[in-house]
Amino acid sequence: MAPLVGRREEISRLGHALSVVDGGGGVFATVIGEPGIGKSRLLDHLATTAADTHRTVLFGRATEFERHQPFGVLIDALDETVETALTADPALADGQTKNLLMPVLPALRRHGNGGGVTMLAGNDRVGRCRELRRLLRRLTTARPIVLLLDDVHWVDQSSAEFLDYLLRHPTDPRLLIVLAYRPIQLPSLLAHSIDRAKANGWLEEIELPPLSIGEAAELVVPTMSSRELRATYKASGGNPLYLEAISHQRTKRGVSLDKVDLPLPALLVAELPAMSTDGLHLLQAGAVLGDPFDVLHAAALAELDNPAAGVALDELSERDLVRPTGSVRVYRFRHPLVRSAVYSQAKRAWLVHAHKRAVEQLRGRGVSVVGIAHHVAQAADLGDLDAVAILEEAAGKVVMRAPATAARWLGDAERLLPQSAETDPRRMRLLGRLADALGRSGQLAESSRRLRDLVKLVPADRHDIRVPYICGIAEADHLAGRFDRARAQLQTELHALSQGHPREQAALHVSLATGAFLRGALTEALDYARQANTLTSDDASPGRRLAALSAHAITAAATGDMQTAAEASAKASAIADSLDDEQATDQLVHLGELAWANYYLGLHDQALRVAGRAAELARRTGHVSTLPYLLLCECKAHQLAGRLRQALDVASQAEEIARLNGSDDHLSMALAAKAEAVIWIDGSTEPATQLAVRAVAAAGWRTGVAGRKAVFVLTEITLATGDAQRTARQLVAASGGPTLPAWPLTSQPRVFELLTRTALAAGDIARAQRWVAGAEQAATHSALGGLSYANRARAWLNAVLGDHKLAAELALAAAEGFGNTGFPIEEGYARAVAARAFTSANADADAAAELRRIKRIAQSCESTRLARLVDRNINAIPRSSAASLAERDPYAALSRREREVAALLATGMTNREIANQLYVTIRTIDAHVSRILRKLDVPSRAAVVGLQLSSGTTQG
Ligand SMILES: Nc1ncnc2c1ncn2[C@@H]1O[C@H](COP(=O)(O)OP(=O)(O)OP(=O)(O)O)[C@@H](O)[C@H]1O
Ligand SMILES: [Mg+2]
Repeated sequence: MAPLVGRREEISRLGHALSVVDGGGGVFATVIGEPGIGKSRLLDHLATTAADTHRTVLFGRATEFERHQPFGVLIDALDETVETALTADPALADGQTKNLLMPVLPALRRHGNGGGVTMLAGNDRVGRCRELRRLLRRLTTARPIVLLLDDVHWVDQSSAEFLDYLLRHPTDPRLLIVLAYRPIQLPSLLAHSIDRAKANGWLEEIELPPLSIGEAAELVVPTMSSRELRATYKASGGNPLYLEAISHQRTKRGVSLDKVDLPLPALLVAELPAMSTDGLHLLQAGAVLGDPFDVLHAAALAELDNPAAGVALDELSERDLVRPTGSVRVYRFRHPLVRSAVYSQAKRAWLVHAHKRAVEQLRGRGVSVVGIAHHVAQAADLGDLDAVAILEEAAGKVVMRAPATAARWLGDAERLLPQSAETDPRRMRLLGRLADALGRSGQLAESSRRLRDLVKLVPADRHDIRVPYICGIAEADHLAGRFDRARAQLQTELHALSQGHPREQAALHVSLATGAFLRGALTEALDYARQANTLTSDDASPGRRLAALSAHAITAAATGDMQTAAEASAKASAIADSLDDEQATDQLVHLGELAWANYYLGLHDQALRVAGRAAELARRTGHVSTLPYLLLCECKAHQLAGRLRQALDVASQAEEIARLNGSDDHLSMALAAKAEAVIWIDGSTEPATQLAVRAVAAAGWRTGVAGRKAVFVLTEITLATGDAQRTARQLVAASGGPTLPAWPLTSQPRVFELLTRTALAAGDIARAQRWVAGAEQAATHSALGGLSYANRARAWLNAVLGDHKLAAELALAAAEGFGNTGFPIEEGYARAVAARAFTSANADADAAAELRRIKRIAQSCESTRLARLVDRNINAIPRSSAASLAERDPYAALSRREREVAALLATGMTNREIANQLYVTIRTIDAHVSRILRKLDVPSRAAVVGLQLSSGTTQG
């Protein structure tokens, strides 16, 4: 191999990264560029430089033909080192590590079951990523780690998910990760996470430019004339792989300049014909087996005896088509493109034959179906039922840890199955499994497409088979926010059902209820749920009964019939408790509804219990599409109970899973939930605002539950920072109008209260009064502290109207109510309203008492925002009332007219608009504004808004 040419700057940047890592820092870097530009070469160089007793260098390479091997590149990089580390220190992997990572790393499997391995981890993809990261971190305690992953553009889906996960955080200390890849071919998941990490400033990108002509001259054969060199350089564009290939074309008479202009793959193929048949076959056999490959196995595949193989190998080495790897008998192609060139020019019949022999060979060596599936897929012809069976079996083995791979193989199997009525049942089974694997791997749209294919195969009168699939399609549509399509199909199916079929009717009604609920048509939802309940009233199947009862519970609660909801929920809970894990796993969506119903009923512990169990099962069995929905219910319960950190943690998990699943609605809800937790934890509004804005964006144009929640949270946060009038209007629209029909009744008081505050912030008392009335009316039906929200809404109103005593009284009633319901944050917030009202009413002792209470709550919930409310209120409590009048009311120094102007300023009006409104000239307003700024001692108009919002009683 020619010595390394050029690349001084890149080498020095990587050297710097090494020294950062040696010094305890973490670095994530990428080396990018077109095929053959020298990425692998640079990585090799780094590996050699970094290899030192005080560092561990791990090297993994993804390969084009093996990109469906789950965790391929990570196993390649990590397995041996983990093995060695485990031998030295078995404590490296605890029970949790083994649980989650045994399916990933063979080393852990070899180190056996001890150490508290309790269950198979199933498809907890996020858990697995977290655990892999922990393992890496533990490895770095001994020595810094340099993890080099090459050809990442061919990375398998599971490894990609792990890298995506790593890229969400700054790199851990003592860890240097370098990814090399061709940017154009990078899977979009990784492209996004890399862009984001770059924007966040924790990823460094090294892009390799072409070599200069001087550097090129060092690379090609030294005998090249300068004319040849110029022609070669021009054709190659300074690409080393190209330069090498042209150099290889060189005959005794010099470079054949007619070949110089060939595109690179053609150029590589052009290297091959002049070879001996044995050489070519050995090379092709290697290409079939892998990169790197074992020469002995390749020889067997090419049907060469030892001496012949030896001669052939010499030929390949001499032509620099393959290179030794350092392990005995194991060779690597000069470049992955050489392997593809070899593979692509081999005759199809020869390849099929070789793959078939590879299957036999691998079987003979005891390799499992998983190891041979890829060859089977390549070798099989249409109608090869053995191949179908192997692929199906292999898929079954990997579906839990690598559902995307399973989907791939099942897809191959389905294609191989001949078209005939006879094979239909088998195709249906395959399609069912394929849809399931696709669903588990988060490819929901593709999954529902396959279910649609499947439904077409079901005879029209087999409703018992059709309906569960139709419901599955509807579930996917609901997740994707396609409510209308789901409803249309469910209703068509319902009409097609002749009389009878109560089970199928019930299932369709439950799905229709769920869809209606999610899009905010609550009465319609209740209607369907009621019918489902009647249809299953004497159904012996606990699953169907549970589904109907849960739907009934959640829709009754949402529409304010708490009595019915409580009864249905109690029955459903009893059934849920009686289900074994397998039965429960079939009912995850309905368990989720039951959990939410309990939440609406104010039964938070119950909600947590149901959602917790379901989430556990979903993780273990890989039914991750419902997981965010379950986690968000847990999150809600934590949030209300003031366990903010836990709420944030659970919401973050939901976010990660929603991203993997590609579900925008779930993503939006998770982001909104995070924003809600963050604003109370953090105190500063910036991060929460960002989250809320992203939540609204993720919900997109869709209405439905996600959009509503996102706008609610955004309004709440915007109100604390500035003008929330626009988001408030959006909120009303997303809620179905001013009576908020799209919100469950139980949530309405809370929404009405928020709208009250936004109206007060805009100085619109009449509107605020209407919102308060709305809160009070909704509160008559609802649990969840509905009355307390209504009381707090009226407290705000009275504070602004100047009846501070009444305001304090109402706020205290709200606080007591929230306290009894177990909502400490809401209680604290209500006490803050009370404290301010007491202060305004000159009842300083009472105010101080409230502030002490808030402080305690702020401490126990670790809420900076509540703590800040205390500080702000304390500042407002006068030491001597005369001196502090101005402090209490920052507008005290303003004249009546100036106050008026300030109030309008705070709504975001321009001076001209204010002038128009007050029928005066703009000059007058200009003068007022500058006086206001002076008197209030604030630098800008924006600050007037801020002051008004932070000190006015309309704000929190
Ligand atoms: N700076 C260099 N000095 C000498 N040889 C080089 C240099 N850069 C690349 N090469 C040689 O050029 C060939 C292609 O380089 P390499 O395999 O590193 O490309 P790559 O960017 O990794 O391509 P791919 O995207 O296909 O993986 C190799 O044989 C390599 O040894
Ligand atoms: Mg490479």
